Amino acid sequence: MPTRFDAFSRTLHWLMAGLIFFVFAVGLIQEWMPRNDTRPVVIALHLFGGTALIGLVALRIFWAFLRKAPAEVAMPRWMALSSKAAHLLLYGFMLAVPLIGVWLYGVRGRSYSLFGVPMPMLFEKNDSIRRMVGEVHEVTAYLMMTLVILHIGAALYHHIILKDGLLFRMSGRTPSQR
Ligand code: HEM
Ligand code: HEM
Repeated sequence: MPTRFDAFSRTLHWLMAGLIFFVFAVGLIQEWMPRNDTRPVVIALHLFGGTALIGLVALRIFWAFLRKAPAEVAMPRWMALSSKAAHLLLYGFMLAVPLIGVWLYGVRGRSYSLFGVPMPMLFEKNDSIRRMVGEVHEVTAYLMMTLVILHIGAALYHHIILKDGLLFRMSGRTPSQR
């Protein structure tokens, strides 16, 4: 039984993680920046990065059926269960937040494109719910980032305090190569 995730799963994990930090940061920047010529580019990066995440998560879920996760690190049952629940919740957020974003863009009634590539409009303009959808997008994004921080804290706690080598399961290095 392998002791770490396969190379493709690891690549997807770090790509998704990088993209989430990027899209979240760009989401905050676009809210605060003045309405100048750069703002549409920043918004387009947010939309395209977020939409790309939906594709990566779908690929990760598909791949999880083909390549099973390595055997669990030994830990108390409550810890193993909460880690499973946190990972499932992370997947839920990673799909829900960008999908709500797509919904938000739809109900705002604006089409968008980056480098000339247009995106399909999947929803009709709807002024009566755009505020509510915007709030839901924002709150779920913040909840996801809170869970991400807890996840990183848990990974570091395992690796540094419990010294169970958990980080090696998501890295190309092995303990013997240190
Ligand atoms: C946006 C950021 C992140 C997200 C959404 C995320 C999500 C996930 C998910 C869903 C898993 C379950 C395994 C899988 O299905 O691939 C996982 C595993 C893991 N993540 Fe992250 N992760 C993020 C960032 C990080 C960071 C920064 C670290 C390192 C400090 C890290 C360390 C790990 C480790 C070590 C595992 C394997 C856990 C195990 O073997 O049970 N993750 N991550
Ligand atoms: C991981 C994925 C995503 C994250 C973490 C995220 C996060 C955010 C954040 C933090 C904001 C600022 C909210 C505020 O302070 O009011 C925002 C705004 C927004 N997001 Fe996202 N988002 C994601 C994906 C998407 C996607 C895929 C779309 C559409 C295709 C989208 C459309 C929007 C729109 C239209 C706004 C409002 C921009 C404005 O006020 O002009 N988001 N997002």
